[in-house]
Amino acid sequence: MNRQKIIIDTDCGSDDAMAIAMALRDERYEVLFFSACSGNVCADQAVINTLTTIEYAATYEPPVYLGSSLPLVKTLAFAHETHGNDGMGDIGLVPSRLQRAEGNGVLKTLEALEQSEPGEIEIVALGPLTNLALAIRLNPEAMRRVKRISIMGSAGLGTGNVTPASEFNIWQDPEAAKIVLESGLPLMLVGWDACLDESMLNPDEIARIRSSGALGQFAIDCNRCLMEMNAGRFGYNCLDMADPAAMAAALHPECIDVCDAYYCEVDTSSGISSGAVLVDVYGFSGKEPNTLVCSKLKSDIYKDYIFRMLGA
Ligand code: RIB
Ligand code: CA
Repeated sequence: MNRQKIIIDTDCGSDDAMAIAMALRDERYEVLFFSACSGNVCADQAVINTLTTIEYAATYEPPVYLGSSLPLVKTLAFAHETHGNDGMGDIGLVPSRLQRAEGNGVLKTLEALEQSEPGEIEIVALGPLTNLALAIRLNPEAMRRVKRISIMGSAGLGTGNVTPASEFNIWQDPEAAKIVLESGLPLMLVGWDACLDESMLNPDEIARIRSSGALGQFAIDCNRCLMEMNAGRFGYNCLDMADPAAMAAALHPECIDVCDAYYCEVDTSSGISSGAVLVDVYGFSGKEPNTLVCSKLKSDIYKDYIFRMLGA
């Protein structure tokens, strides 16, 4: 089978881990390597969490490279309250064997694209866009060879999860997101709203995944902190799996329900809507669309994809 090539950029917290396991187990795709950035946790910890996830996925073992350790401008805020101090629910998960690969994730991404045919490689970004912004600045010609950049980022057409207006990945590095959105590259933003409502994992679905085996138990238990936070936020044990939603939209587009092209702009000011992605639904700007925005998934197809990839 001619597997489609992808590169995954990640700030590997617990929802990234589920998305990464799904990608590794989808035999239609070959993950060339991972590049780590800071967001949920520092990039070094994101490397460790990615290595742990590769071991639990028990498929093949792509290299994991460190990318930028800091956002372009903004101070790191981390998301320890959401994913735990280690990003994986603080349940003692560490890689038993794998180690970080030598080399920098940004440079490795440019190298892979330079050596690829145009349109051969898709990038899936699950964290702040720092590494991608640096790659665009360092070698825009190489980046133009990318098939598409699918991004878990923005509130989509809904509300934010860090402020009423902003979603964490964009909020943590708005300057990087601005560079990516202005790059002219083929983009798809998958908003946080795509993983809510009917696409939220409910207690029965969580139990189904957890009881399916070692990978399912890992994928749920590392999301312990998020589940506890959600019990307070939504009133019941549920999981808004933002990165798995973005991964599903990128790798299994049959699950996409609402996805339209809009001109989008990032608020890089320091005001109350800092980090917001303004989606110009009615064309007030008069500017051509610069990205697709996926705001809703077909929850049955999306969840079936999660179950199948995790063996649940
Ligand atoms: O807003 C959700 C996003 O921020 C997810 O990618 C989560 O892992 C964090 O990076
Ligand atoms: Ca993430």
